[in-house]
Amino acid sequence: MFKKILKITGIILGVIVLIVACFFMKAYFSVESRRSTHYTVEPQPLAIQQDSAALALGARLVKAKGCTDCHGQDLGGKVFVDDPMLAHLIAPNLTKGKGGLPQDHTYEDWVLALKHGIRKDEKPLLFMPSQEYFLLSEQDMGAIIAYCSQLPKVDREFNEGNTLGPLAYILTDMDKLPMFPAEMIDHKRTLVKEVKAEVSIEFGKYLSTSCQGCHRENMKGGDPVAPGFPVVADISSTGQPGKWTDEQFIETLRTGKTPEGKILKPNEMPWTMAKEFTDVELKALHLYLNSL
Ligand code: HEC
Ligand code: HEC
Repeated sequence: MFKKILKITGIILGVIVLIVACFFMKAYFSVESRRSTHYTVEPQPLAIQQDSAALALGARLVKAKGCTDCHGQDLGGKVFVDDPMLAHLIAPNLTKGKGGLPQDHTYEDWVLALKHGIRKDEKPLLFMPSQEYFLLSEQDMGAIIAYCSQLPKVDREFNEGNTLGPLAYILTDMDKLPMFPAEMIDHKRTLVKEVKAEVSIEFGKYLSTSCQGCHRENMKGGDPVAPGFPVVADISSTGQPGKWTDEQFIETLRTGKTPEGKILKPNEMPWTMAKEFTDVELKALHLYLNSL
């Protein structure tokens, strides 16, 4: 009798292991095939101005758009995910120092990365949030490129490559992680020229693309963005920010502390990025959020 139970348990366990293995293999091969897809696109030519106004705008945008959070304060690159179950991901050195971009990296190559989420070799960049940046205006993207292409050289080399862990394969296959932004982009879309910086719903909506990745398109939040992260708050008119004045909204995004006394951790809710927004930008954003 006992032997029989053992045998049945053994068979059941075996079947479970087999099912999990099949499930994982399917995820693995499907993700690897997406990873080696070639994208042929015609990058939109951008007129890049190198004047001081453009450089100043670019310097602010690399912080406000989160580039420095992943690529490091000096944009010399950093390991930004290091979790054996999830992934080992490097946001590369964007300067022309050792371990950085090649000396012949062109403006066009910048557009490929920012507007299309692809590399010079036509393969998709992993986890680089181009699905947000392809909605930037020509003026803003141009300023970022102008600023980044004159960065002081930083010598920082990474010997290891990017690797994905089992959880990343499974979550990516279930479309729970934005691993391949190139798949989420309309590559034919041309950039809008410029969005007027004023306290308007239109400008607020434009800025809200930086919040969409986590708060979702309707800004009502929902499930955590990755395992171990908190539930994403509703920041539309029905959430807490709907009850705040503009001053309270600005204060929250500059200090990481809400009027209700909640402390926002910068790695979960990146207010260190939002604090680079100007008053006009934050007011426009609040106006837009309240209109939802
Ligand atoms: C969430 C983290 C994250 C943010 C935010 C981010 N990047 Fe990246 N970026 C990455 C990763 C990861 C890669 C490398 C992907 C790969 O190798 O597949 C990358 C790659 C790049 C590349 C391609 C380099 C090459 O080898 O061709 C450029 C250019 C770049 N990023 C610029 C930027 C700029 C400019 C910003 C801000 C507007 C930015 N990134 C914001 C994570 C990020
Ligand atoms: C990387 C994901 C992420 C991004 C990007 C992000 N948020 Fe958040 N945000 C969160 C999470 C998660 C919470 C909930 C934090 C908590 O409960 O501790 C939150 C909370 C907030 C809160 C507090 C809400 C409350 O009820 O107290 C505000 C306000 C907010 N976010 C505004 C923004 C704005 C504006 C942007 C875009 C400029 C933005 N967030 C971008 C993840 C994000």
